[in-house]
Amino acid sequence: MALQIGVPRETFPGEKRVATVPEVVEKLVKLGFSVAVESGAGDAANCADDTYRAAGAEIVADAVTLWGKSDIVFKVRPPSLAEVALMKTGGTLVGFVWPAQNPDLMQALTAKQATVLAIDCLPRMLSRAQKMDALTSMAGISGYRAVIEAANAFGRFFAGQITAAGKVPPAKVFIAGAGVAGLAAIGTAAGLGAIVRANDTRAEVADQVKSMGGEFVKVDYEEEGSGGGGYAKVMSEGFQAAQRAMYAQQAREVDIIITTALIPGKPAPRLITAEMVRSMKPGSVIVDMAAEQGGNCELTEPGQAVVKHGVTIVGYTDLPSRLAKQSSTLYATNLFRLTEELVKTKSADPAAGTFVPNFEDDAIRGLTVLRQGELTWPAPAPNLPAPPPPKPAAVPAEKKSAHGHGAGAPMSGGTLATIFGIGAVLFWLVGAYAPASFLSHFTVFVLACFVGYMVIWNVTPALHTPLMSVTNAISSIICVGALVQIAPPASGAERPDGWILGLAVFALALTAINMFGGFAVTRRMLAMFRK
Ligand code: NAI
Repeated sequence: MALQIGVPRETFPGEKRVATVPEVVEKLVKLGFSVAVESGAGDAANCADDTYRAAGAEIVADAVTLWGKSDIVFKVRPPSLAEVALMKTGGTLVGFVWPAQNPDLMQALTAKQATVLAIDCLPRMLSRAQKMDALTSMAGISGYRAVIEAANAFGRFFAGQITAAGKVPPAKVFIAGAGVAGLAAIGTAAGLGAIVRANDTRAEVADQVKSMGGEFVKVDYEEEGSGGGGYAKVMSEGFQAAQRAMYAQQAREVDIIITTALIPGKPAPRLITAEMVRSMKPGSVIVDMAAEQGGNCELTEPGQAVVKHGVTIVGYTDLPSRLAKQSSTLYATNLFRLTEELVKTKSADPAAGTFVPNFEDDAIRGLTVLRQGELTWPAPAPNLPAPPPPKPAAVPAEKKSAHGHGAGAPMSGGTLATIFGIGAVLFWLVGAYAPASFLSHFTVFVLACFVGYMVIWNVTPALHTPLMSVTNAISSIICVGALVQIAPPASGAERPDGWILGLAVFALALTAINMFGGFAVTRRMLAMFRK
């Protein structure tokens, strides 16, 4: 008999998400499962019972029946102990579990001989785990929603405008922490037209901040902030003092601060002090995304939006739920991808009624926290591909020349002299034996090669294409030759033949296309590099 997936209504107060959506139900049925959904489970996420039914799900009237009949339960929030009591013995639970924070829940699940796949324990650094990474999809949505909450509480436009009624300056937004949520917030705020700045202790995210439309603000203190696996490390006292000074300055300047700074397993770093809040302009907004982990701002009240010193401080802890349809859809897709991975192996066959996680797979091993009642958490670190060896420190130029030349390294004086010597002898030979007219053309040719080489040598490769198109345009010097042919001859001089004139006009027309086209292409390409 086909395995039964059950999707109960979320019972956590205010939670609007649902663990699967009708579009995904269809796919689960195709994989060989039968799906049951508790009546009303998707209402808050705009997924009515009828749409689930149409997709092939059975609608079950109450939670007791649903939990009792389901071999596998898909959930968003960790289940309550009362829910675990309803679970089938030996059943499987898939969803957010947070085993470290929920020891009682883990104990109850162990007693039920449950297999538990905690989506929050997925090893995120495995690239093949990305499609199942619900933490990332939820954080991206939350970053977006944080900006929308800020815009809602802020009394002005984000984009600068010039209207008949006056000039409106753009809002300035500062984002603390440029991880998944921070980058999404940068993109959203920049999209709304604000001036966006961001800071992170991991300097490697500076390029990502720029690519999302923000400006990376550095802390004036040299210290590497990466703690491995894409996470930060706790910084030294000296760094923290320098960071506080920078944040204090930003607080005075900006209108909106969105904080997302966190190191997993640690309380959120206190980045915005009460003093900084006091220094902000009245009407400013702070959205503290780390509210649940203690908050990045000293004055945050988790779950609340409060006004302190004229600044609205939003500490909502349910940002993904505030965009329930979107987050349910992405979450359901993450769980579907996980299910697909699970049924790839023989030990998990929905038609045969077996569903045992394959421990050979690092991603599945990582998120399996209980296997048939046996504690398998925390999982050993996955086998990651070895990181590329660190680049050897740059060798000083003088040393390099002693052992040969690296690409682009300046030549030693001796080599340069030899090359020039050989060149001079060749030139002398050409001068001695070639006709005089050849020599003048040859001189121009050699000079042109030299000047051309000198011009392009220091141009970065990214700019080679615009450079080529502009040289193309300049090379249209042909048109000077054509104009000389067309121009009326000096008195006494012979007028060129008609066909030469025709050819000159034709060359002029072609060159004009080359010339104006070249400049137009160069302009467009350079515009791509301008900010
Ligand atoms: P992430 O780990 O991808 O990003 C956190 C970033 O903070 C990292 O880039 C890290 O380098 C940086 N960071 C750490 N310490 C810092 C410091 N002292 N100064 C500056 N940067 C620092 O985490 P993600 O997924 O982006 O989540 C961000 C926060 O949002 C977390 O606190 C998460 O729990 C929270 N969150 C809140 C939700 C809500 O409803 N309020 C929903 C989803 C996530």
